[in-house]
Amino acid sequence: MSTQPSALREPSRSTPIESLSPLRDFVVAFGRLLDAQPDEPCILREGGALLTTLVANDSWLPQAYAQPHPNYYQQYLLHADSTERFSVVSFVWGPGQATPIHDHTVWGLIGMLRGAEYNQPYALDAAGRPLPQGAPSRLEPGTVEAVSPTIGDLHRVSNAFADQVSISIHVYGANIGGVHRHTYPEQGAPKPFVSGYSNTTLPNLWDRSKDGLKDRVPA
Ligand SMILES: [Fe+2]
Repeated sequence: MSTQPSALREPSRSTPIESLSPLRDFVVAFGRLLDAQPDEPCILREGGALLTTLVANDSWLPQAYAQPHPNYYQQYLLHADSTERFSVVSFVWGPGQATPIHDHTVWGLIGMLRGAEYNQPYALDAAGRPLPQGAPSRLEPGTVEAVSPTIGDLHRVSNAFADQVSISIHVYGANIGGVHRHTYPEQGAPKPFVSGYSNTTLPNLWDRSKDGLKDRVPA
């Protein structure tokens, strides 16, 4: 699944973050979507539309969650639903970095925020070896794609750039950092892994002191 943004994207900014409200609005809307207990196609469609709106705007991601590591791609937790129905992460690619072939075991949505990445889908053959499925897709800013065990769960993702950082925003149907998953070597058995997260503190989505400031009168 792939959707394109309907409106022109705002350019990325190097100025300090003014508001996390786009991310707060996103997690509130995503929680409300899941409250209705929709089926997976609805989650991917409606949730994909919410993510398309979020990544159409590159002004809200705090610098602390946009930092690359010289050797490893980074996965920063931005929000975890209190009952772990979903989680939101920023995936930060240093120049030339790539994942191994891996699965997710739950649905996932991938929204490109900054830079670009290649997504190569795989499927297992009769002997359990991963085989590429078609050509890789290139995700440009504003693009949203989906993965899940029902529509295709194996892929390898890489930064499209050898000389710049790329960032995508992912949403998963679980607390993804704690999910038992697998990587798939070209030869040999799948290897279990649990990803964890690159950060130990979360962005504070809930300071509403700047919301509607102009309408407030000191008590
Ligand atoms: Fe993935």
